[in-house]
Amino acid sequence: MTVHLVGAGPGDPELLTVKAARLIAEADVIVHDYLSNESILDAAKPGAEFIDVGKKPGNPTPQELINALLVHLGSQNLNVVRLKGGDPFVFGRGGEEAQALMDAGIHFTVVPGITSAVGVPAAAGIPVTHRNVSPAFTVVTGHRESGASSNIEWEALAKVGGTIVILMGVSERAVIAQRLMNGGLSATTPVAAIRWGTRAEQHTTRTTLGELHAAQLRAPSTIVVGEVAAYEFISGAHQPTSVAGL
Ligand SMILES: C[S@@+](CC[C@H](N)C(=O)[O-])C[C@H]1O[C@@H](n2cnc3c(N)ncnc32)[C@H](O)[C@@H]1O
Repeated sequence: MTVHLVGAGPGDPELLTVKAARLIAEADVIVHDYLSNESILDAAKPGAEFIDVGKKPGNPTPQELINALLVHLGSQNLNVVRLKGGDPFVFGRGGEEAQALMDAGIHFTVVPGITSAVGVPAAAGIPVTHRNVSPAFTVVTGHRESGASSNIEWEALAKVGGTIVILMGVSERAVIAQRLMNGGLSATTPVAAIRWGTRAEQHTTRTTLGELHAAQLRAPSTIVVGEVAAYEFISGAHQPTSVAGL
């Protein structure tokens, strides 16, 4: 019938859109990935089938296989939800799945989700833009194998200004930090790395660009570079006195 490419948001089930929740409840089959919070699946109807194509580190499901699965399921009389972390079109390979469905003539819809690039910093009290502090933000992948990352001119990015939000950047953080400093960013530039944002396990590490290489970080984390990374707009939280603009 229809394949819905649905963004599940960064993890907190309450950050699902109303539309995503309805489609999950109506689905006959849910093809989900690793980052989707398992409890999101509790909303599925009895008898719904779950297919885990989670791309766990070291055990990836080939994208071609996922594409073929979606085409196969979509050509049957089934309501299919392809549930992806965050937004399906932000480093989620949702475009490739949409292309495969288009090529096969399968009807599909795209349901946006809250991307971790914005939702995770917000959950840690960090606004990706802030008046008089950061007028823009750039979202990049730090993963070398993500294709686009190999083309990222980190030295040039350092000169753009505003906030830099890095997804999948944990393993390359030392190189990224060095190249951003080579491009002119100060070693004292604030950095925040938020692991498992919006989930119960959420943990924020605050550091600077000069110390980022030594920070103990683990995936999945969203790394925020820039003056806003020193902020913590959480009720009752201590605001660092060094924060610019306050
Ligand atoms: C393959 S990308 C998918 C991004 C997703 N489509 C989105 O819009 O958020 C996965 C990366 O997103 C970031 N990420 C996703 N969920 C996260 C969370 N709950 N907390 C921190 N980072 C998260 C991490 O950098 C992770 O390695």
